[in-house]
Amino acid sequence: MREPLVQVLNDDAPWDSFDARAYVDVNYRCVTAEDSLILAIVRDHFATHFDADGRIPLRGIDVGTGANLYPALSLLPWCHEITLCDRSAANVEWLKRQDWALMSERGEWLWSQFWDILAERPAYGAIAEPRSLLGSLSRVEHGNLFDLPRAGWEIGTMFFVAESMSTSREEFERAVACFLGSLEPGAPFAAAFVRGSAGYDVGAESYPACDVAESDVHATLARYSERCEITVVDPSVPPFRSGYSGMIVACGRRNSHSA
Ligand SMILES: C[S@@+](CC[C@H](N)C(=O)[O-])C[C@H]1O[C@@H](n2cnc3c(N)ncnc32)[C@H](O)[C@@H]1O
Repeated sequence: MREPLVQVLNDDAPWDSFDARAYVDVNYRCVTAEDSLILAIVRDHFATHFDADGRIPLRGIDVGTGANLYPALSLLPWCHEITLCDRSAANVEWLKRQDWALMSERGEWLWSQFWDILAERPAYGAIAEPRSLLGSLSRVEHGNLFDLPRAGWEIGTMFFVAESMSTSREEFERAVACFLGSLEPGAPFAAAFVRGSAGYDVGAESYPACDVAESDVHATLARYSERCEITVVDPSVPPFRSGYSGMIVACGRRNSHSA
């Protein structure tokens, strides 16, 4: 992990000006090779977990949802309620209006291409209307992940948040601890991180990032998780954007160490 020349803390970034529509346009208009692999890893992790331990439905949370619906979709078969938590007033407004549920003029739902990958496993494939089910199960919360209550949820996801919210290593580590601390012992989770990020632009605004490698993710997760598997997903060729060197996916279970 490299220390940045200029520190930008989580409190300093313009979260309320986050342009959800621009973010979707740049990152989620179509499924990249990276998304496809990440979706398959997370889908298989949850499906395998629940094949062995069938205790569902659960309370789920996606932390820092922003304008990406696929982590929440990966929770769908296992939950009776899914909290979508984000610090940005603009993202919360976008989520509350359910802009993500809009259909194109050709009658297509943007997120169905992501759902199709999940639906290759029967537990997902058995859901006929993922769009309306997500609409009815999700509860949008305007909140700061550093303030999440302890052990409030039984399954969770956090994608591209802990390393994409600040340049600070201390805040990266605390964000991972707060995410895992929000889960009950034994809760399955999936988290994804941008590797080697130099920060990112969304619309007219710039956002900070902490440059992490798989060893940093491993060291940070190890304290609060068990059976954790970490996979590095190399950038597609050509990469869909500059300023990063791949993605890191971590899947495991919350342990009983207090965070
Ligand atoms: C890079 S975006 C990732 C969005 C989405 N999860 C994805 O997979 O593309 C980072 C997200 O973290 C949110 N965020 C930043 N700081 C946060 C905090 N302290 N608590 C909760 N969410 C935060 C931002 O508003 C933004 O939606």
